[in-house]
Amino acid sequence: MKTIIEPFRIKSVEPIRLTTREERRDLLRAAHWNLFALRSADVTIDLLTDSGTSAMSARQWAAVMAGDESYAGSPSFYRFEAAVKSLMPFKHVIPTHQGRAAEAILCALIGGTERVIPSNTHFDTTRGNIEASGAEALDLLIAEGRDPTSRYPFKGNIDLGRLGALLDERAAQVPAVMLTVTNNAGGGQPVSLANIHAAAELAHRYGKPLIIDGCRFAENAYFIKLREPGQQDRAVPDIVRDMFSVADGMTMSAKKDAFANIGGWLALNDDGLAQRARERLILTEGFPTYGGLAGRDLEAIAQGLSEVVDEDYLRYRLRTNEYMVERLRALGIPVVEPSGGHAVFVDARAFLNHIPALQYPGQSLAVALYEHGGIRSCEIGTVMFGRQRDGSERPALMDLVRLAMPRRVYTQAHSDYVIEVFGEIAERRREMRGLRIVEQPERLRHFTARFEPI
Ligand code: F0G
Repeated sequence: MKTIIEPFRIKSVEPIRLTTREERRDLLRAAHWNLFALRSADVTIDLLTDSGTSAMSARQWAAVMAGDESYAGSPSFYRFEAAVKSLMPFKHVIPTHQGRAAEAILCALIGGTERVIPSNTHFDTTRGNIEASGAEALDLLIAEGRDPTSRYPFKGNIDLGRLGALLDERAAQVPAVMLTVTNNAGGGQPVSLANIHAAAELAHRYGKPLIIDGCRFAENAYFIKLREPGQQDRAVPDIVRDMFSVADGMTMSAKKDAFANIGGWLALNDDGLAQRARERLILTEGFPTYGGLAGRDLEAIAQGLSEVVDEDYLRYRLRTNEYMVERLRALGIPVVEPSGGHAVFVDARAFLNHIPALQYPGQSLAVALYEHGGIRSCEIGTVMFGRQRDGSERPALMDLVRLAMPRRVYTQAHSDYVIEVFGEIAERRREMRGLRIVEQPERLRHFTARFEPI
């Protein structure tokens, strides 16, 4: 088979600044070893997130010029709404400035004390919004999803047995069932179509809505096409419609699978709930035909949605991560397998097994990647999830480091560079030490906590 090439040409470029290791050591100290505190100009390869970092296409930039900035009833909104509905057939589509704004509105409506919202795995902002409402965010991922070495094809699936038990025991407390596709916090692993359908059926049996966090819906759909029996001959948009047709609503960050630099939406079928969501939207985001967005953003999203379901793009997209995973595995670096949709996840707990979880092996590896190669990654582990509601700490399920791939931004040579840096780190891993937290906020501490090497 020939190399799966980047299916695009580059016609506009941004320079990358190269730094020395000495400079990076100083920059780390100044950032208190928190990579969120770095200036991006000091980063060589920025794999902190795939969110909002996509390269827009020539057609998206052209669409930006067509943006209509009318306060109410802009044609840009109707193009956006039609683009969303062509893939996700929900009755009400409510634009927001990004995914978490949609989550905040949803949680204000369905959250609250004594409530519990299950999911395969809530992303950190979803969990944050649920908990801020007073409710409990419950992760019910299947066991395979928690085993970084399991090669199960749909490691993002929700555990239907545990979901059923929860609904049996505490149905009155459950306002909705959620599903994150792909499962970002669990390694960018897909959820099968069968699992989505079964979760919907189960939720509906108890009269509960199913809400899909659809940030990476196209990557998930392509995994379904590749891996789920009987799906091989279907077009990706068709699979996408099938995924969402059984749901009652969705939250979305258009900063992922819509190739937009900003944007999101909340979609719902329930008229009453949508009405209340729009009332809140006006208070916090803006009028319902623009949410927190400019008309040009709505145009970029509409165009992006038509590009992200292209199978040449998706084949290249998934191959990028698979390539990195193959090369890292050859170096003996433990990685989550099979590779995820938007990122490569390194199992830092296994790689740095001499560093206890409460000394943050994930953070230690992320810091080393920056120090050695100017690569910015993101800890998804005990720093992100270890703090309990009572302020105590316990190890997260896994200590991963995520190398999130911005869409259409880096080339294979950039990937090769990252792999070389890993090679260097692997030789020195026994010298690496953990970190302690010296300052932290109450919620979402990974963004602003300050660390100190031990
Ligand atoms: N849900 C998932 C699964 C996400 O990955 C994110 C964002 C959100 C919701 C929130 O969307 O950023 O537009 O408010 N994830 C980014 C990341 C930040 O780096 O994974 P947002």
